[in-house]
Amino acid sequence: MSAGVREVGIGIVGYGTMGRAHAYAYAAAPRIRPLPCVPRVRVMSGRNQAAVERAALDLGAERFTTEWRELVEAPDVDIVDICTPPGTHAEIIEAAAECGKAILCEKPLAAGFEDACRAAEAVRRARVKNAIGFNYRRLPALSLMKQMVDSGRLGEVRLWRGSWLSDEFADPEIPFDWRFEKSMGASTIADLGAHLLDLAGWLVGEIDAVSAQSRTFTKARSGAGGGRPLDVDVDDASSALLRFGSGALGVFEVAKTCVRRPCDFTVEVNGERGTLRFDYARLNELWYGDAGDEAELYGMRRLRAEHPLHPETQGWWTIGQGVGYGASFVNQAADLLEQWPDGTWSPDFATGLEVQAGCEAIERAAAERRWVALDEIRGGASSQIRGGASSQIRDAG
Ligand SMILES: NC(=O)c1ccc[n+]([C@@H]2O[C@H](COP(=O)([O-])OP(=O)(O)OC[C@H]3O[C@@H](n4cnc5c(N)ncnc54)[C@H](O)[C@@H]3O)[C@@H](O)[C@H]2O)c1
Repeated sequence: MSAGVREVGIGIVGYGTMGRAHAYAYAAAPRIRPLPCVPRVRVMSGRNQAAVERAALDLGAERFTTEWRELVEAPDVDIVDICTPPGTHAEIIEAAAECGKAILCEKPLAAGFEDACRAAEAVRRARVKNAIGFNYRRLPALSLMKQMVDSGRLGEVRLWRGSWLSDEFADPEIPFDWRFEKSMGASTIADLGAHLLDLAGWLVGEIDAVSAQSRTFTKARSGAGGGRPLDVDVDDASSALLRFGSGALGVFEVAKTCVRRPCDFTVEVNGERGTLRFDYARLNELWYGDAGDEAELYGMRRLRAEHPLHPETQGWWTIGQGVGYGASFVNQAADLLEQWPDGTWSPDFATGLEVQAGCEAIERAAAERRWVALDEIRGGASSQIRGGASSQIRDAG
Protein backbone atom coordinates (compact mmCIF):
# COMPACT_ATOMS: atom_id res chain seq x y z
CA MET A 1 0.00 0.00 0.00
CA SER A 2 1.42 3.40 -0.95
CA ALA A 3 2.05 5.93 1.81
CA GLY A 4 -0.89 8.19 2.59
CA VAL A 5 -3.59 5.78 1.36
CA ARG A 6 -5.77 5.00 4.33
CA GLU A 7 -7.39 1.69 5.14
CA VAL A 8 -11.13 1.41 5.68
CA GLY A 9 -12.36 -1.43 7.88
CA ILE A 10 -15.38 -3.43 6.70
CA GLY A 11 -17.57 -5.77 8.74
CA ILE A 12 -19.84 -8.05 6.72
CA VAL A 13 -22.92 -9.35 8.53
CA GLY A 14 -23.91 -12.67 6.91
CA TYR A 15 -21.85 -15.02 4.77
CA GLY A 16 -24.46 -16.38 2.34
CA THR A 17 -24.82 -15.46 -1.32
CA MET A 18 -24.58 -11.71 -0.72
CA GLY A 19 -21.85 -11.97 1.93
CA ARG A 20 -19.80 -13.75 -0.72
CA ALA A 21 -20.65 -11.21 -3.45
CA HIS A 22 -19.74 -8.25 -1.25
CA ALA A 23 -16.49 -9.83 0.01
CA TYR A 24 -15.51 -10.49 -3.60
CA ALA A 25 -16.34 -6.87 -4.47
CA TYR A 26 -14.06 -5.43 -1.76
CA ALA A 27 -11.21 -7.67 -2.95
CA ALA A 28 -11.70 -6.77 -6.63
CA ALA A 29 -12.58 -3.05 -6.44
CA PRO A 30 -9.01 -1.76 -5.82
CA ARG A 31 -7.76 -3.99 -8.65
CA ILE A 32 -10.25 -2.48 -11.08
CA ARG A 33 -10.12 1.19 -10.13
CA PRO A 34 -7.67 3.42 -8.28
CA LEU A 35 -9.35 4.26 -4.96
CA PRO A 36 -8.59 6.82 -2.26
CA CYS A 37 -8.65 4.06 0.39
CA VAL A 38 -7.94 0.36 0.75
CA PRO A 39 -10.88 -1.78 1.93
CA ARG A 40 -10.04 -4.45 4.50
CA VAL A 41 -12.68 -7.00 5.46
CA ARG A 42 -11.87 -7.11 9.17
CA VAL A 43 -14.66 -9.37 10.35
CA MET A 44 -17.55 -11.45 9.10
CA SER A 45 -20.43 -12.60 11.30
CA GLY A 46 -22.85 -15.51 11.16
CA ARG A 47 -24.86 -17.67 13.52
CA ASN A 48 -23.15 -20.99 12.85
CA GLN A 49 -19.59 -20.99 14.20
CA ALA A 50 -18.11 -23.67 11.92
CA ALA A 51 -19.77 -22.22 8.81
CA VAL A 52 -18.80 -18.61 9.48
CA GLU A 53 -15.24 -19.65 10.33
CA ARG A 54 -14.99 -21.47 7.01
CA ALA A 55 -16.58 -18.56 5.11
CA ALA A 56 -14.24 -15.99 6.70
CA LEU A 57 -11.27 -18.13 5.67
CA ASP A 58 -12.53 -18.65 2.11
CA LEU A 59 -13.59 -15.05 1.59
CA GLY A 60 -10.52 -13.39 3.07
CA ALA A 61 -12.01 -11.85 6.23
CA GLU A 62 -9.39 -11.30 8.93
CA ARG A 63 -11.58 -12.81 11.67
CA PHE A 64 -15.12 -13.99 12.38
CA THR A 65 -17.71 -13.81 15.13
CA THR A 66 -21.06 -15.42 15.86
CA GLU A 67 -22.28 -12.16 17.45
CA TRP A 68 -23.21 -9.47 14.94
CA ARG A 69 -23.26 -6.88 17.76
CA GLU A 70 -19.56 -7.57 18.35
CA LEU A 71 -18.90 -6.78 14.67
CA VAL A 72 -20.95 -3.58 14.82
CA GLU A 73 -19.10 -2.37 17.92
CA ALA A 74 -15.58 -3.32 16.74
CA PRO A 75 -13.35 -0.18 16.73
CA ASP A 76 -11.58 -1.27 13.52
CA VAL A 77 -14.87 -1.54 11.57
CA ASP A 78 -15.78 1.69 9.74
CA ILE A 79 -18.45 0.30 7.39
CA VAL A 80 -21.08 -2.25 8.46
CA ASP A 81 -22.21 -4.17 5.39
CA ILE A 82 -25.51 -5.99 5.99
CA CYS A 83 -26.07 -9.18 3.98
CA THR A 84 -28.69 -10.97 6.09
CA PRO A 85 -32.43 -11.52 5.45
CA PRO A 86 -34.59 -8.35 5.26
CA GLY A 87 -36.35 -9.05 8.58
CA THR A 88 -33.03 -8.60 10.41
CA HIS A 89 -31.95 -5.33 8.73
CA ALA A 90 -33.64 -2.67 10.90
CA GLU A 91 -32.23 -3.93 14.21
CA ILE A 92 -28.69 -4.18 12.83
CA ILE A 93 -28.96 -0.74 11.19
CA GLU A 94 -30.13 0.84 14.45
CA ALA A 95 -27.22 -0.66 16.37
CA ALA A 96 -24.65 0.28 13.71
CA ALA A 97 -25.95 3.85 13.43
CA GLU A 98 -25.79 4.21 17.21
CA CYS A 99 -22.11 3.23 17.02
CA GLY A 100 -21.55 5.91 14.37
CA LYS A 101 -20.76 3.40 11.61
CA ALA A 102 -21.33 3.94 7.90
CA ILE A 103 -23.80 1.34 6.59
CA LEU A 104 -24.32 -0.48 3.32
CA CYS A 105 -27.49 -2.58 3.49
CA GLU A 106 -28.67 -5.15 0.97
CA LYS A 107 -32.12 -4.57 -0.53
CA PRO A 108 -34.91 -4.42 0.43
CA LEU A 109 -34.25 -1.98 3.27
CA ALA A 110 -36.55 -4.06 5.49
CA ALA A 111 -39.30 -6.66 5.32
CA GLY A 112 -41.97 -3.95 5.65
CA PHE A 113 -42.43 -0.17 5.52
CA GLU A 114 -42.58 0.33 9.28
CA ASP A 115 -39.16 -1.29 9.82
CA ALA A 116 -37.77 0.61 6.82
CA CYS A 117 -38.86 3.84 8.57
CA ARG A 118 -36.98 2.73 11.72
CA ALA A 119 -33.88 2.12 9.63
CA ALA A 120 -34.09 5.44 7.77
CA GLU A 121 -34.76 7.33 10.98
CA ALA A 122 -31.75 5.70 12.71
CA VAL A 123 -29.25 6.89 10.06
CA ARG A 124 -30.91 10.31 9.85
CA ARG A 125 -30.62 10.77 13.61
CA ALA A 126 -27.02 9.51 13.79
CA ARG A 127 -25.98 11.36 10.58
CA VAL A 128 -24.00 8.38 9.32
CA LYS A 129 -23.26 7.55 5.70
CA ASN A 130 -25.72 5.03 4.30
CA ALA A 131 -26.30 3.20 1.05
CA ILE A 132 -28.74 0.56 -0.16
CA GLY A 133 -27.62 -2.32 -2.38
CA PHE A 134 -29.39 -1.55 -5.64
CA ASN A 135 -26.44 -3.04 -7.51
CA TYR A 136 -28.14 -3.32 -10.91
CA ARG A 137 -27.83 0.46 -11.30
CA ARG A 138 -24.08 -0.18 -11.54
CA LEU A 139 -24.31 -2.30 -14.69
CA PRO A 140 -23.00 -0.29 -17.64
CA ALA A 141 -26.10 -0.97 -19.77
CA LEU A 142 -28.63 0.17 -17.15
CA SER A 143 -26.44 3.11 -16.23
CA LEU A 144 -26.28 4.05 -19.93
CA MET A 145 -30.07 3.76 -20.09
CA LYS A 146 -30.32 6.30 -17.26
CA GLN A 147 -27.85 8.61 -19.00
CA MET A 148 -29.78 8.46 -22.28
CA VAL A 149 -33.14 9.11 -20.60
CA ASP A 150 -31.69 12.05 -18.64
CA SER A 151 -30.05 13.53 -21.73
CA GLY A 152 -33.49 13.80 -23.33
CA ARG A 153 -32.84 11.35 -26.19
CA LEU A 154 -36.25 9.76 -25.69
CA GLY A 155 -38.05 13.04 -25.13
CA GLU A 156 -40.78 12.91 -22.52
CA VAL A 157 -41.06 9.44 -20.98
CA ARG A 158 -44.55 7.99 -21.48
CA LEU A 159 -44.31 4.31 -20.54
CA TRP A 160 -42.14 2.18 -18.22
CA ARG A 161 -42.24 -1.61 -18.12
CA GLY A 162 -40.37 -3.89 -15.73
CA SER A 163 -40.65 -7.64 -15.38
CA TRP A 164 -38.67 -10.11 -13.26
CA LEU A 165 -39.31 -13.82 -13.75
CA SER A 166 -37.59 -16.58 -11.80
CA ASP A 167 -38.22 -20.23 -10.98
CA GLU A 168 -36.91 -19.97 -7.41
CA PHE A 169 -40.25 -21.15 -5.88
CA ALA A 170 -41.51 -23.20 -8.86
CA ASP A 171 -40.96 -26.60 -7.21
CA PRO A 172 -43.60 -27.16 -4.47
CA GLU A 173 -41.23 -29.64 -2.79
CA ILE A 174 -38.74 -26.90 -1.80
CA PRO A 175 -38.98 -26.91 2.00
CA PHE A 176 -39.93 -23.89 4.08
CA ASP A 177 -37.17 -21.43 4.98
CA TRP A 178 -36.93 -17.69 5.71
CA ARG A 179 -37.76 -16.76 2.13
CA PHE A 180 -41.32 -18.08 2.57
CA GLU A 181 -41.99 -16.02 5.70
CA LYS A 182 -42.89 -12.41 4.90
CA SER A 183 -41.72 -10.96 8.21
CA MET A 184 -38.22 -12.33 7.56
CA GLY A 185 -37.84 -12.65 3.78
CA ALA A 186 -40.24 -9.89 2.64
CA SER A 187 -42.74 -10.37 -0.18
CA THR A 188 -41.66 -11.25 -3.71
CA ILE A 189 -42.91 -7.74 -4.52
CA ALA A 190 -40.22 -6.37 -2.16
CA ASP A 191 -37.54 -8.95 -2.89
CA LEU A 192 -37.39 -8.92 -6.70
CA GLY A 193 -39.64 -5.90 -7.09
CA ALA A 194 -37.42 -3.60 -5.02
CA HIS A 195 -34.85 -3.66 -7.83
CA LEU A 196 -37.53 -2.93 -10.44
CA LEU A 197 -39.13 -0.11 -8.45
CA ASP A 198 -35.70 1.38 -7.82
CA LEU A 199 -35.04 1.41 -11.56
CA ALA A 200 -38.52 2.85 -12.21
CA GLY A 201 -37.94 5.70 -9.77
CA TRP A 202 -34.43 6.31 -11.05
CA LEU A 203 -35.39 6.33 -14.72
CA VAL A 204 -38.84 7.89 -14.67
CA GLY A 205 -39.43 9.55 -11.28
CA GLU A 206 -41.77 9.33 -8.33
CA ILE A 207 -44.70 6.91 -8.45
CA ASP A 208 -48.07 8.40 -7.49
CA ALA A 209 -50.39 5.39 -7.29
CA VAL A 210 -50.62 1.65 -7.98
CA SER A 211 -53.18 -1.09 -8.50
CA ALA A 212 -52.16 -4.73 -8.25
CA GLN A 213 -52.92 -8.43 -8.00
CA SER A 214 -51.03 -11.18 -6.19
CA ARG A 215 -51.20 -14.97 -5.76
CA THR A 216 -49.49 -17.62 -3.63
CA PHE A 217 -49.88 -20.89 -5.53
CA THR A 218 -48.13 -23.17 -3.00
CA LYS A 219 -49.74 -22.20 0.27
CA ALA A 220 -47.77 -24.51 2.59
CA ARG A 221 -44.34 -26.12 2.47
CA SER A 222 -42.80 -28.89 4.52
CA GLY A 223 -40.57 -27.86 7.40
CA ALA A 224 -36.83 -28.60 7.33
CA GLY A 225 -36.11 -32.38 7.24
CA GLY A 226 -39.68 -33.19 6.18
CA GLY A 227 -41.26 -31.56 9.23
CA ARG A 228 -44.95 -30.60 9.42
CA PRO A 229 -46.09 -28.20 6.68
CA LEU A 230 -45.79 -24.50 7.43
CA ASP A 231 -47.98 -21.77 5.93
CA VAL A 232 -46.42 -19.56 3.27
CA ASP A 233 -47.42 -15.88 3.43
CA VAL A 234 -45.19 -14.67 0.59
CA ASP A 235 -46.60 -14.09 -2.90
CA ASP A 236 -45.41 -16.42 -5.68
CA ALA A 237 -46.39 -13.93 -8.36
CA SER A 238 -47.66 -10.34 -8.48
CA SER A 239 -48.33 -7.71 -11.09
CA ALA A 240 -49.18 -4.05 -10.88
CA LEU A 241 -50.11 -0.97 -12.85
CA LEU A 242 -48.20 2.18 -11.90
CA ARG A 243 -49.02 5.86 -12.36
CA PHE A 244 -46.01 8.17 -12.18
CA GLY A 245 -46.14 11.76 -10.93
CA SER A 246 -44.92 12.90 -14.37
CA GLY A 247 -48.01 11.40 -16.01
CA ALA A 248 -46.10 8.38 -17.35
CA LEU A 249 -47.71 4.92 -17.03
CA GLY A 250 -46.01 1.74 -15.85
CA VAL A 251 -46.45 -2.03 -15.81
CA PHE A 252 -44.69 -4.18 -13.19
CA GLU A 253 -44.49 -7.96 -12.89
CA VAL A 254 -42.59 -10.25 -10.51
CA ALA A 255 -42.86 -14.02 -10.23
CA LYS A 256 -40.87 -16.85 -8.68
CA THR A 257 -42.86 -19.68 -10.25
CA CYS A 258 -41.87 -19.34 -13.91
CA VAL A 259 -40.52 -22.73 -14.94
CA ARG A 260 -37.09 -22.54 -16.56
CA ARG A 261 -36.83 -18.76 -16.13
CA PRO A 262 -33.73 -18.33 -13.90
CA CYS A 263 -33.38 -14.58 -13.33
CA ASP A 264 -34.98 -13.10 -16.40
CA PHE A 265 -35.58 -9.44 -15.99
CA THR A 266 -36.30 -6.77 -18.52
CA VAL A 267 -36.80 -3.03 -18.33
CA GLU A 268 -38.21 -0.85 -21.09
CA VAL A 269 -38.78 2.88 -21.38
CA ASN A 270 -40.82 4.42 -24.18
CA GLY A 271 -40.53 8.15 -24.73
CA GLU A 272 -42.11 10.43 -27.31
CA ARG A 273 -39.01 10.19 -29.54
CA GLY A 274 -37.48 6.82 -28.71
CA THR A 275 -37.44 3.47 -26.96
CA LEU A 276 -34.82 1.80 -24.76
CA ARG A 277 -34.98 -1.84 -23.74
CA PHE A 278 -32.71 -3.88 -21.42
CA ASP A 279 -32.79 -7.68 -21.18
CA TYR A 280 -30.69 -9.12 -18.34
CA ALA A 281 -29.90 -12.29 -20.30
CA ARG A 282 -27.82 -9.98 -22.56
CA LEU A 283 -26.61 -7.62 -19.90
CA ASN A 284 -23.97 -5.81 -21.93
CA GLU A 285 -26.49 -4.64 -24.50
CA LEU A 286 -29.18 -2.03 -24.79
CA TRP A 287 -31.77 -1.89 -27.56
CA TYR A 288 -32.44 1.60 -28.85
CA GLY A 289 -35.13 2.79 -31.24
CA ASP A 290 -34.81 6.38 -32.46
CA ALA A 291 -37.73 8.16 -34.14
CA GLY A 292 -35.14 10.33 -35.94
CA ASP A 293 -33.74 7.40 -37.95
CA GLU A 294 -34.44 7.31 -41.69
CA ALA A 295 -37.47 5.18 -42.57
CA GLU A 296 -35.19 2.64 -44.36
CA LEU A 297 -33.52 1.93 -41.00
CA TYR A 298 -36.84 1.32 -39.22
CA GLY A 299 -36.25 -0.83 -36.14
CA MET A 300 -34.20 -1.03 -32.97
CA ARG A 301 -30.41 -0.99 -32.91
CA ARG A 302 -28.27 -2.97 -30.46
CA LEU A 303 -25.91 -0.76 -28.44
CA ARG A 304 -22.85 -2.39 -26.86
CA ALA A 305 -22.64 -0.82 -23.41
CA GLU A 306 -18.93 -1.51 -23.11
CA HIS A 307 -17.31 1.55 -24.62
CA PRO A 308 -14.89 3.41 -22.31
CA LEU A 309 -17.17 6.44 -22.76
CA HIS A 310 -20.06 4.52 -21.23
CA PRO A 311 -20.74 4.80 -17.47
CA GLU A 312 -19.53 2.07 -15.07
CA THR A 313 -17.03 0.65 -17.58
CA GLN A 314 -14.00 2.23 -15.92
CA GLY A 315 -11.22 -0.29 -15.31
CA TRP A 316 -13.01 -3.27 -16.88
CA TRP A 317 -11.89 -5.41 -19.78
CA THR A 318 -11.34 -4.19 -23.32
CA ILE A 319 -14.46 -3.64 -25.41
CA GLY A 320 -16.14 -6.86 -26.48
CA GLN A 321 -15.25 -8.88 -23.36
CA GLY A 322 -18.30 -7.80 -21.38
CA VAL A 323 -18.96 -7.69 -17.66
CA GLY A 324 -21.27 -9.84 -15.52
CA TYR A 325 -23.32 -9.84 -12.32
CA GLY A 326 -20.17 -9.73 -10.16
CA ALA A 327 -19.14 -6.47 -11.83
CA SER A 328 -22.24 -4.75 -10.46
CA PHE A 329 -21.02 -5.45 -6.91
CA VAL A 330 -17.44 -4.43 -7.70
CA ASN A 331 -18.70 -1.17 -9.23
CA GLN A 332 -20.93 -0.63 -6.20
CA ALA A 333 -18.00 -1.08 -3.80
CA ALA A 334 -15.75 1.13 -5.95
CA ASP A 335 -18.40 3.89 -6.30
CA LEU A 336 -18.89 3.97 -2.51
CA LEU A 337 -15.20 3.75 -1.59
CA GLU A 338 -14.39 6.52 -4.08
CA GLN A 339 -16.55 8.76 -1.88
CA TRP A 340 -14.86 7.70 1.37
CA PRO A 341 -14.84 9.39 3.82
CA ASP A 342 -16.51 12.71 2.99
CA GLY A 343 -18.36 12.30 -0.32
CA THR A 344 -22.01 11.46 -0.89
CA TRP A 345 -23.29 7.88 -1.12
CA SER A 346 -26.09 7.09 -3.52
CA PRO A 347 -28.59 5.50 -3.61
CA ASP A 348 -29.14 5.94 0.12
CA PHE A 349 -31.75 4.82 2.64
CA ALA A 350 -34.10 7.62 1.58
CA THR A 351 -34.26 5.88 -1.81
CA GLY A 352 -34.58 2.50 -0.07
CA LEU A 353 -37.50 3.87 1.93
CA GLU A 354 -39.22 5.34 -1.12
CA VAL A 355 -38.88 1.97 -2.89
CA GLN A 356 -40.27 0.24 0.20
CA ALA A 357 -43.28 2.60 0.12
CA GLY A 358 -43.88 1.44 -3.47
CA CYS A 359 -43.65 -2.22 -2.42
CA GLU A 360 -46.03 -1.68 0.48
CA ALA A 361 -48.48 0.16 -1.79
CA ILE A 362 -48.47 -2.74 -4.27
CA GLU A 363 -49.01 -5.25 -1.43
CA ARG A 364 -51.91 -3.18 -0.07
CA ALA A 365 -53.45 -2.62 -3.51
CA ALA A 366 -53.42 -6.37 -4.17
CA ALA A 367 -54.84 -7.24 -0.75
CA GLU A 368 -57.59 -4.62 -0.86
CA ARG A 369 -58.27 -4.73 -4.63
CA ARG A 370 -58.11 -0.98 -5.12
CA TRP A 371 -55.79 1.78 -6.32
CA VAL A 372 -53.45 2.90 -3.54
CA ALA A 373 -51.79 6.33 -3.56
CA LEU A 374 -48.20 6.22 -2.35
CA ASP A 375 -48.87 9.24 -0.16
CA GLU A 376 -51.19 6.97 1.83
CA ILE A 377 -48.10 4.93 2.73
CA ARG A 378 -45.56 7.76 2.89
CA GLY A 379 -47.56 10.23 4.90
CA GLY A 380 -50.51 8.40 6.39
CA ALA A 381 -48.65 7.25 9.47
CA SER A 382 -49.08 8.90 12.82
CA SER A 383 -45.90 7.84 14.61
CA GLN A 384 -42.92 10.15 14.93
CA ILE A 385 -40.66 7.64 13.23
CA ARG A 386 -42.74 7.56 10.05
CA GLY A 387 -43.17 11.33 10.10
CA GLY A 388 -39.42 11.87 10.28
CA ALA A 389 -38.77 9.36 7.55
CA SER A 390 -41.36 10.69 5.15
CA SER A 391 -40.04 14.23 5.48
CA GLN A 392 -36.64 12.71 4.67
CA ILE A 393 -38.09 11.29 1.45
CA ARG A 394 -39.40 14.69 0.45
CA ASP A 395 -36.12 16.46 1.31
CA ALA A 396 -34.29 13.95 -0.86
CA GLY A 397 -36.79 14.19 -3.71
N1 LIG B 1 -28.63 -7.43 -4.72
C1 LIG B 1 -28.82 -8.68 -5.11
O1 LIG B 1 -28.61 -9.02 -6.28
C2 LIG B 1 -29.30 -9.69 -4.11
C3 LIG B 1 -29.33 -11.06 -4.45
C4 LIG B 1 -29.72 -11.98 -3.48
C5 LIG B 1 -30.09 -11.54 -2.22
N2 LIG B 1 -30.09 -10.20 -1.92
C6 LIG B 1 -30.47 -9.70 -0.58
O2 LIG B 1 -29.37 -9.99 0.32
C7 LIG B 1 -29.87 -10.33 1.61
C8 LIG B 1 -29.32 -11.71 2.01
O3 LIG B 1 -29.72 -12.65 1.02
P1 LIG B 1 -28.81 -13.93 0.66
O4 LIG B 1 -29.32 -14.43 -0.66
O5 LIG B 1 -27.38 -13.60 0.79
O6 LIG B 1 -29.24 -14.93 1.80
P2 LIG B 1 -28.49 -16.26 2.29
O7 LIG B 1 -29.54 -17.17 2.84
O8 LIG B 1 -27.62 -16.78 1.21
O9 LIG B 1 -27.57 -15.73 3.48
C9 LIG B 1 -28.16 -15.17 4.62
C10 LIG B 1 -27.12 -14.96 5.67
O10 LIG B 1 -27.76 -14.32 6.77
C11 LIG B 1 -27.54 -15.10 7.98
N3 LIG B 1 -28.70 -14.90 8.87
C12 LIG B 1 -28.72 -14.08 9.94
N4 LIG B 1 -29.90 -14.10 10.56
C13 LIG B 1 -30.66 -14.95 9.86
C14 LIG B 1 -32.00 -15.39 10.03
N5 LIG B 1 -32.77 -14.96 11.03
N6 LIG B 1 -32.47 -16.29 9.13
C15 LIG B 1 -31.69 -16.72 8.10
N7 LIG B 1 -30.42 -16.32 7.91
C16 LIG B 1 -29.90 -15.44 8.78
C17 LIG B 1 -27.30 -16.51 7.46
O11 LIG B 1 -26.57 -17.25 8.40
C18 LIG B 1 -26.50 -16.22 6.20
O12 LIG B 1 -25.14 -15.98 6.51
C19 LIG B 1 -31.39 -10.23 1.51
O13 LIG B 1 -31.79 -8.96 1.94
C20 LIG B 1 -31.66 -10.40 0.03
O14 LIG B 1 -32.86 -9.78 -0.40
C21 LIG B 1 -29.67 -9.29 -2.84
